[in-house]
Amino acid sequence: MKKFDKILMILSVIFSLGTMTAQEHELKVNAAKTVAEIQPTMYGIFFEDINFAADGGLYAEKVKNRSFEFELPKMGWIEPNSDRHSFNKNSGIARIIQFQDTTGNHNFARITVNDASGYKLINEGYRGMGIKKDAEYRLSVEVAQPKGIEKIHFKLIDEDGEVIGETSISPDSEQWKTYESVFTATETAEKAKLQVTFEGNGDIDLDMISLFPVDTWKGRKNGLRKDLVQLLADMDPGFLRFPGGCIVEGRTLAKRYQWKKTVGPVEDRELLVNRWNTEFSHRLTPDYYQSFGLGYYEYFQLAEDIGAEPLPILGVGIACQFNTGELVPMDELDPYVQDAIDLIQFANGPVDSKWGKIRAEMGHPEPFGLEYIGIGNEQWGPEYIERFKVFQKAIQEKYPDITIVSGSGPFPEGDYFDYGWEQLKKLNAEIIDEHYYKPPKWFRENATRYDDYDRNGPKVFAGEYAAQSVGIASPENKNNWETALSEAAFMTGLERNADVVYMTSYAPLMAHKDAWQWTPDLIWFDNLKSYGTPNYYVQKLFANNKGTDLVSVTENGKPLTGQQDLYASAVRDEKNNQLIVKLVNTSKKEMEVELKLKGVKPGSKGDLIVLKDDDLSAENSLENRKNISPEVKSLEIDGRELELELEPYSVNVVKINIK
Ligand code: AHR
Repeated sequence: MKKFDKILMILSVIFSLGTMTAQEHELKVNAAKTVAEIQPTMYGIFFEDINFAADGGLYAEKVKNRSFEFELPKMGWIEPNSDRHSFNKNSGIARIIQFQDTTGNHNFARITVNDASGYKLINEGYRGMGIKKDAEYRLSVEVAQPKGIEKIHFKLIDEDGEVIGETSISPDSEQWKTYESVFTATETAEKAKLQVTFEGNGDIDLDMISLFPVDTWKGRKNGLRKDLVQLLADMDPGFLRFPGGCIVEGRTLAKRYQWKKTVGPVEDRELLVNRWNTEFSHRLTPDYYQSFGLGYYEYFQLAEDIGAEPLPILGVGIACQFNTGELVPMDELDPYVQDAIDLIQFANGPVDSKWGKIRAEMGHPEPFGLEYIGIGNEQWGPEYIERFKVFQKAIQEKYPDITIVSGSGPFPEGDYFDYGWEQLKKLNAEIIDEHYYKPPKWFRENATRYDDYDRNGPKVFAGEYAAQSVGIASPENKNNWETALSEAAFMTGLERNADVVYMTSYAPLMAHKDAWQWTPDLIWFDNLKSYGTPNYYVQKLFANNKGTDLVSVTENGKPLTGQQDLYASAVRDEKNNQLIVKLVNTSKKEMEVELKLKGVKPGSKGDLIVLKDDDLSAENSLENRKNISPEVKSLEIDGRELELELEPYSVNVVKINIK
């Protein structure tokens, strides 16, 4: 689809020296006057562990249910010769021993091997394990009480049953001891499995059987998947919101996300069922749990790595209102509030404070510099407001410099939304989160959404949005070009209102192609590869070109909000001395546009970045990852006017060096 030659031919950039040829649109851009400041947080990332985004995705662990803690403790593990159907062979068996450790790690597997040549324990991974030829892998395992077992063999087996990497360890201690071995894979496989076999007959206890690539993001031991973090880093995000999403709330309060259980030694973090496991009957994933290997410390570290402000979202004492809506009684809210207060200490407190010490022990004595905290994800009604008030008071008293993000519920209009805004305004809320999962047309028709917002009221966090090609969370939704183009049109409206809109993020962020629950999503991946959707490239284009100062771009004195299918916004980038104009043509026709530029020196140079496709149903895919992706062309401006032909269905970013 990308035909650079064609672009060169069609997208003729004409440098006008005076008289104007017949134009469809004559736009005035005043680069000299700042209309508003663009917040550094304007374009960010929403991360939620949905669609196997954390375990099975960003968190690079290959072994599913590594410590036998799932509700069905052998889920993910296969014993080919010892299951119900072939038990007569009786080569051996894994029994799960449940012990009430004081940590979050409650179970281990006691393996009885009767016939060492016959007994196998196999982990199926997260829809298989992605293994790369010549890459190194770190196997680790906790072992105790080896009685008669001299060696444990670990083999990576590909889809055809071939061994593509192997190692072994020899247990030498009665006590729990961690063994590690690094080995190199000999072939690539998308859906490998890890097979464990034994030398000798007898019993042995195993826990935390783990396999990571050595080559992780920043080379961190047992860290994050490099390609996926790179896609995030490339967005140059202003903030990282985590850990959700509904996952914050839990279906019940008992199953809510509790950040304190996600820090400290990885093996002690108490696993929790993932609330997306059986949420949609059309996309059941009963094997979806949260190991919290990607926990709060790792989220803060990730935010720091990619230069994003951390934005943790905490539960407000209300379970997901689409599920149970269970409420913490008001007189029992204290521990929830304390969690928020303690989190700020965990992020920013001195190393001798209770929670700052834990951060330091985990390897980060310096504060993480937390400035924002979100209270409640997608709550609504008086129950939310009365609980939010308690959090707000406590946080403002103890940490007056922290900005609190509140929420207006799941819908961008209607009773819940109006009530939420009205009440939060009365509470002088600082930033209010809005969510919209709507058809592409809604996005094209709502570029003026924020034009009439109160300039002196709370600021807006467009915290979750995505155009739905079929219907909200329909399994048929596609990340097609129509959705991305419509979001781009809408985003010019977000940017034009940068005095009100302080933060924005697309949602959800990531999806495993074989294990997703919700579509559309910004980034898709399998066990080996990943790609950005057209929506990703729209987000990236806006975020990479957010500038520092909003300037005006108008036609006949009015902003461009979709009249004749043209949308526009413009910013100046003080750091790079650039004027950046974003133009979105949502029509099927080419469009001639003349930009009259104030505040730009004649002879300036620049770039034109074009994201386009003639086919609104076009998509990117694992096979054609850059089908729709930006093309860059150089610009040279003679006078102070620039004529462009915008291609049909195109997002155009004009970047001009102004000094
Ligand atoms: O982004 C998916 C879900 O949509 C989020 O978890 C929730 O906040 C919203 O309903």
